[in-house]
Amino acid sequence: MELYQVQILAFAALICCTSSAYGWGVDGHLITCRLAQPRLSKATADAVSQLLPAYADDDLGSVCSWADQVRFRYRWSSALHYIDTPDNLCSYLYKRDCKDEDGIQDRCVAGAIYNYTNQLLSYGNGNSQYNLTEALLFLSHFIGDIHQPLHVGFTSDKGGNTIDVDWYTTKTVLHHVWDVSIIETAEERFYDSNVDELINKLQTNITTVWANQAKAWEACSKTACPDAYATEGIKAACDWAYKGVSNSSVLEDDYFLSRYPVVNMRLAQGGVRLAATLNRIFG
Ligand SMILES: *[C@@H]1O[C@H](CO)[C@@H](O)[C@H](O)[C@H]1NC(C)=O
Ligand SMILES: *[C@@H]1O[C@H](CO)[C@@H](O)[C@H](O)[C@H]1NC(C)=O
Ligand SMILES: *[C@@H]1O[C@H](CO)[C@@H](O)[C@H](O)[C@H]1NC(C)=O
Ligand SMILES: *[C@@H]1O[C@H](CO)[C@@H](O)[C@H](O)[C@H]1NC(C)=O
Ligand SMILES: [Zn+2]
Repeated sequence: MELYQVQILAFAALICCTSSAYGWGVDGHLITCRLAQPRLSKATADAVSQLLPAYADDDLGSVCSWADQVRFRYRWSSALHYIDTPDNLCSYLYKRDCKDEDGIQDRCVAGAIYNYTNQLLSYGNGNSQYNLTEALLFLSHFIGDIHQPLHVGFTSDKGGNTIDVDWYTTKTVLHHVWDVSIIETAEERFYDSNVDELINKLQTNITTVWANQAKAWEACSKTACPDAYATEGIKAACDWAYKGVSNSSVLEDDYFLSRYPVVNMRLAQGGVRLAATLNRIFG
């Protein structure tokens, strides 16, 4: 093969497969981090600013998908983006479910959130043994992922990755519908394909129609509360994502119009909780 052909193939692979199976797509993560950053306290914003790589230019949103970009280089990290729960049980238990395919405990998105929270708690203690820049980028990404309902999905269908569906006229898999398609269709249909407008609407709703709920979303008696988010996630997966879908279902307006409010809520919760978690860490 000619070099340029290899490059085209590599580029096509990048486009087709960047977001599948690894959590919200780029926009979902951008939205979560953009919602979170204005909610940081002064002390937290200072710490985040210290830890962000220079190229991020103080914008957490710009590096919120870093964890997906390094998933091949850091092969060990790929199990940290999701949780597989037993088929059809619609429940989550840390001890039972938080492990990777080899059965190694703690290797799931909830375990990763605890791990990187603990690492970041050493910020300011002189020389941490960890790379706290990476810890911040992983934590910001994983709090987004755990809010994608199919990131806490069933084991045998890999969180909807083996369920083939048509999204309107496009062939894809159910997992990708929740990572990307619902958000993309909402952006096109309601926001002029402008992600910033969606972010503004979510921001407004957090301070108006969701103001009371948002207080409850923040509540956590520890520093990080991923288990509560995972329990909500598998419930939403059963009640909304998997519901009424089988292999080769055609998903159109009925599905989109009833599900996009769920996606909006999960994005808002992710943003509010990422900010609250960082505020608890850096106080
Ligand atoms: C915890 O973080 C370290 C450093 O990135 C990593 O090597 C380890 O695999 C992580 N473990 C979990 C469960 O997140
Ligand atoms: C920490 O991680 C970032 C991102 O991978 C990297 O650019 C940086 O060089 C690392 N810092 C140290 C001190 O290793
Ligand atoms: C759906 O059908 C495809 C193609 O026949 C198959 O590979 C896949 O395993 C099926 N998925 C499920 C969840 O049955
Ligand atoms: C904001 O709230 C209104 C009123 O409940 C709702 O109609 C709209 O879809 C919400 N928008 C977003 C982006 O959550
Ligand atoms: Zn991910």
